[in-house]
Parts: sequence; C-alpha cells; structure tokens
Amino acid sequence: MGDKRQISMAVVRRLPKYHRYLLELIRNDVDRISSKELSDRIGFTASQIRQDLNNFGDFGQQGYGYNVKDLYNEISNILGLHANYNMVIAGAGNLGQAIAGYSNFEKEGFRVKALFDINPKLIGLSIRDIEIFDIDNLRNYLHDNKVDIGIICTPRVQAQKVADVMVKNGITAIWNFAPTDLDVPRGVIVENVHLLDSLLTLTYRVNEPKLLDYINKDPEEIVE
Ligand code: NAI
Repeated sequence: MGDKRQISMAVVRRLPKYHRYLLELIRNDVDRISSKELSDRIGFTASQIRQDLNNFGDFGQQGYGYNVKDLYNEISNILGLHANYNMVIAGAGNLGQAIAGYSNFEKEGFRVKALFDINPKLIGLSIRDIEIFDIDNLRNYLHDNKVDIGIICTPRVQAQKVADVMVKNGITAIWNFAPTDLDVPRGVIVENVHLLDSLLTLTYRVNEPKLLDYINKDPEEIVE
C-alpha cells in the first residue's frame, strides 16, 4: 500500500486567510476571480495558490479562474465549518472573559457554552449569559454536555492539570493560550496561540532595514 498523502501544516495555516479573503470578495459581490487577481489581493503567488488548492481538488477552471462562492464553500468544508462546535473555557480572567465576550465566533459556528474558574468571586457570574462555574464541576459538565473544544486561559502552572481533566473527560481538541507545551495523548489535538510571537514578528520587521544594512555592510566598514 502506498504512503498516505499528507497536507503540510504550511498549507493548512494559509487556508484561514483564503477563507477570510473569499468572504470579503463575496461581501463585495465578486462572483469569480483569477488566481492572478486572488494573488494580488491575498499576497501569495498565483502558483502558490494553485498548488495549495490542488491539494484538495480541482477547483479552478482554465481561462475562468475560481468561482468565489464555490471556492469559499469548499474551503469552509475543508476547515470543518460545516459543523457547529461547542466550547468551554477554563480560566475566566481577562483573556477567558474576552474570548467569551466576542460574539463573532458564533457566526462561524463556535459557541462558548460555559466558563470555569477557581476564583469564588467569579463563580456564578456570567459573560453574555455564559455562566462561570467552579472548575471542580468541569468533569461533570463534560460528562453531561457535548463539548468539542476546550479552551485554556488559566495561568501557565495550572494549564496541564486543566488539560488532563479535559482529556480524561472526552475533549480531543484544545485551544491553548497558556504559555506552556501541554502533554496530551495521541489523538488529542492542541493548537497553541502566542500573541507575543506575532508581536515579535512585528518588531523584527520594524528592525529589519537596520539589520539588513548591517548584514550587507562591507566587513571593513564595521567598527567594533
Ligand atoms: P488572569 O489572571 O486574568 O486570568 C486567569 C484566570 O484563571 C483567573 O481568573 C484565575 O482565577 C483562573 N484560574 C487559575 N487557576 C485555575 C484553574 N486551575 N482552573 C480554572 N481557572 C483557574 O490572566 P489572563 O490575562 O486572562 O491570562 C490567562 C492565561 O493566558 C495566562 O496563562 C497568560 O499567560 C495567557 N495569555 C496568553 C496570551 C497568548 O497570546 N497566548 C495572551 C494573554 C495571556
């Protein structure tokens, strides 16, 4: 039997951007687009776009380009957006509350159903009608409710413990904001989010001209 075809994570990480730009095109009543035009807007080369999409099927037509709505629907399906996802948040501090308070996730089918915390001052409060429960109730909640995604917004040192409870009680997808690498069994998918990585990329790019000047300088000009 041949090797199973895999999709590289680099391709996967570009898909949300296609999805976002195609939605924008739909909102602007654009029905079809060539890979060149899509490339100008999205910032990937036309051949990159063709290669990325060819991983999943034959979506474009020679001389026609892409049907925007069809491609958007295909990519939505590839991203699993044909389903709704129930989510719970562990850690109802600044970040947990901000995520629960952001209603736009619901437009894509992501619903925060409950928050969990250890702080008695928070337990019993609600964010947009989403209740904050005692973290000790997480296990029972996961038994009684269908939850697809666990979101971790606790301090770093608490994150593994919370992840263990989630995994033991059926969670197979974790969106982890705590700055730590979680240890989870095979089959459990963890997506780490690091806003700082993005900020550091920004500061790198701000500093890049100076850095390139320095790198490209004639070594004899560099005064130690
Ligand atoms: P915060 O201190 O406002 O909130 C943390 C909450 O977790 C508190 O309400 C606390 O009572 C609760 N908590 C502590 N232990 C818990 C447990 N065992 N179970 C349930 N809840 C528990 O902190 P903030 O600013 O909301 O940050 C939360 C986490 O997210 C931190 O780990 C922080 O480093 C991380 N963070 C990550 C970012 C990223 O880009 N990945 C950006 C900002 C914060």
